Amino acid sequence: MVPGLSYGCPGGGGARGGRPRARSVTRAPRIRAATAADLPSVLALLRAVDLPVDGIGAPLTGFVVADRDGQVVGVAGLEAYGPAGLLRSVAVRPDGRGGGTGRRLVERVLVDARASGMRDVYLLTTTAADYFPRLGFRPIPRSAVPPAVQGSVEFREACPASAVAMHRAVRDLPVPGR
Ligand SMILES: CC(C)(COP(=O)(O)OP(=O)(O)OC[C@H]1O[C@@H](n2cnc3c(N)ncnc32)[C@H](O)[C@@H]1OP(=O)(O)O)[C@@H](O)C(=O)NCCC(=O)NCCS
Repeated sequence: MVPGLSYGCPGGGGARGGRPRARSVTRAPRIRAATAADLPSVLALLRAVDLPVDGIGAPLTGFVVADRDGQVVGVAGLEAYGPAGLLRSVAVRPDGRGGGTGRRLVERVLVDARASGMRDVYLLTTTAADYFPRLGFRPIPRSAVPPAVQGSVEFREACPASAVAMHRAVRDLPVPGR
């Protein structure tokens, strides 16, 4: 929870029977599957935070966005390589950080990965190796990443060799609807 932000019902402030207290209410963004129409906003956000956009195109299959009142304020992507997924492009607009949007985006991608039958999710990062452990990721040697994932654009071209590879098993997650 971030000071100054409220995640309660919009407009629902104040004690029962009293006057609503004057306070600004910022709703948590909605996490939803990305659509082709989100592509320009997604690319703009990734470029603004200096993340690679190589290999990203419509229809943004596997991507989810954080949508606040029709504006994309966050994004995360999942590329499928058989039973392994590659989590990439996790970004939240600077003015929307610290409220759990990054966590919600990644958790949604992990659930989606599990729902589509994946067993493991990998990522490469130069900027957030200290962030992902709180979401269950652990650093691994790059050589331990499955060859199919190592063949991705992100591994081959977009991220420098110094980027940290990380892994999280998703086979333990419940499959939605079962
Ligand atoms: C990483 C990022 C997506 C997190 O988004 P967010 O919505 O702020 O994340 P959450 O609200 O879930 O988590 C916030 C917490 O993570 C920490 N955190 C955020 N970015 C971090 C980073 N790069 N490294 C370590 N910790 C980080 C914050 O300090 C905060 O810690 P606290 O809970 O102890 O106060 C966002 O900072 C971002 O877009 N960064 C730039 C792009 C990037 O580096 N993406 C990752 C590479 S794939």
